[in-house]
Amino acid sequence: MSDFRVPTLTRRAFLASTAALLSAGAMLPLQSNARATGIREFRLRAGPGRAQIAPEPHGDTAVWCYDGSLPGPEIRIRQGERVRIAVENALGEETTVHWHGVRVPNAMDGVPDLTQAPIAPGETFTYEFDAVDAGTFWYHPHQRSFEQVGRGLYGRLIVEEADAVRVDRDETWVLSDWRLTKTAEMQDDFGNRHDMMHNGRVGNTVTVNGRVPDVFPVRKGERIRLRLINAANARIFGLDFGSHEPVIIALDGQPVEPHATEDGLVVLGPAMRADMILDMTANAGGRVSVIDRFYEGLEYRLVDLAYDDTPLREKAPDWPVVLPPNPLPEPDLAMAIRHEVTFNGGMMGAMVMQEMGGSMGETGQDTPGAMGGMMGNMEGMMNMMHSGGIWFINGVAAEGHITDPMLTLARDKSHVIAMTNATAWHHPIHLHGHSFRVISRNGRPTPHREWQDTVLMSPRERVEIALVADNPGDWMFHCHILEHHAAGMMGVFRVA
Ligand code: C2O
Ligand code: CU
Repeated sequence: MSDFRVPTLTRRAFLASTAALLSAGAMLPLQSNARATGIREFRLRAGPGRAQIAPEPHGDTAVWCYDGSLPGPEIRIRQGERVRIAVENALGEETTVHWHGVRVPNAMDGVPDLTQAPIAPGETFTYEFDAVDAGTFWYHPHQRSFEQVGRGLYGRLIVEEADAVRVDRDETWVLSDWRLTKTAEMQDDFGNRHDMMHNGRVGNTVTVNGRVPDVFPVRKGERIRLRLINAANARIFGLDFGSHEPVIIALDGQPVEPHATEDGLVVLGPAMRADMILDMTANAGGRVSVIDRFYEGLEYRLVDLAYDDTPLREKAPDWPVVLPPNPLPEPDLAMAIRHEVTFNGGMMGAMVMQEMGGSMGETGQDTPGAMGGMMGNMEGMMNMMHSGGIWFINGVAAEGHITDPMLTLARDKSHVIAMTNATAWHHPIHLHGHSFRVISRNGRPTPHREWQDTVLMSPRERVEIALVADNPGDWMFHCHILEHHAAGMMGVFRVA
């Protein structure tokens, strides 16, 4: 599983004096000098490559990736370090890199035309920011992401705690899927209207760290910190670890009160992450399948946990599992300014008529907020019915690159954003530049008030999030099903 490359660490002074050489693509691994310079340096080169996605005897597949590897090189730093990442664009089109979940300054956020000019082919842009939060993050382009991410441009960004929880092994599974032809070529129907209107580009081949996995070797008694990252365009995962009892210790990089999973499934929408403690409690020599059960009737075996014949220890260790907190500002709910956001669209005609007729849709959930949100926005609804857009936030389908904010959040104030999913589809909703607490679902307080940067909303669900808007700038707010994002489900929040 861990056959990725070690990132190249270059010394700042050296890099400066050899810029020409480096931009020609040479990579010069040096001894770590991070303590001396205070800055960790990395280079990423986005370009075409080939990867063995489908198992042999299939051939490899043409992909777009970073540094020729899939996923891209892992960027692994310590909390509090400053990082500088030079991104070279060797693609045939413009790109950017977004550091998903990292609370970076606005100019480093990687959103084309909003926070920076896109990186033209052949050019390099250097990002620099402090790793304020420890946790599991990832990076990906924000330019035509439905195709660039879908072709393989993504990588993990791990920020280590000074005081991590004790485990035997720290592993990361980057989950993704692909739509491949019978000969393992990439189907290039990116951004087709059907995917945009329905649940996005859900692929036919699921990979862990860029390969169709077979077994993941483990030992009885072993304690693993497993970091899951969903890098898929559209697929939602619901992982069942069989007889094992994963304990969730962080969501979207942010520590959470350790807890068992609901219904035994670890559910991750696109862009979401979960860190869990996995104690290997089955028998030596045995095998336990990890099954993805998210889509009913489409369950499949993701990978087998394959136990070695000799145990590491007889019983699971009793080491503490609580992560140290990150420096997040706590929203003051009593003082918070409230905002309403309603998502509409998808299968337009039928849905709008259904909503106007007062039906709550096939889920049968009683979510009065959905109707309120709809009816409070008749004008928006009329726009929706007459525009060619597919997905809408507060009645607007965003097109191309947007810069006008849909909402202004007073800086350093607490805000509650009440979000209503008035559609029949799931949407993982992401806000840039901040983490927020998920405080309620359908009017009920959440048990863990988890910090997230991407929250998965079920059809018809109403979710309230709370945050202190402490990071000034214009921030993207969008569905992370990348086809929905491309088809209008995005907006800009201005923090000022
Ligand atoms: Cu992971 Cu706006 O993106
Ligand atoms: Cu969506």
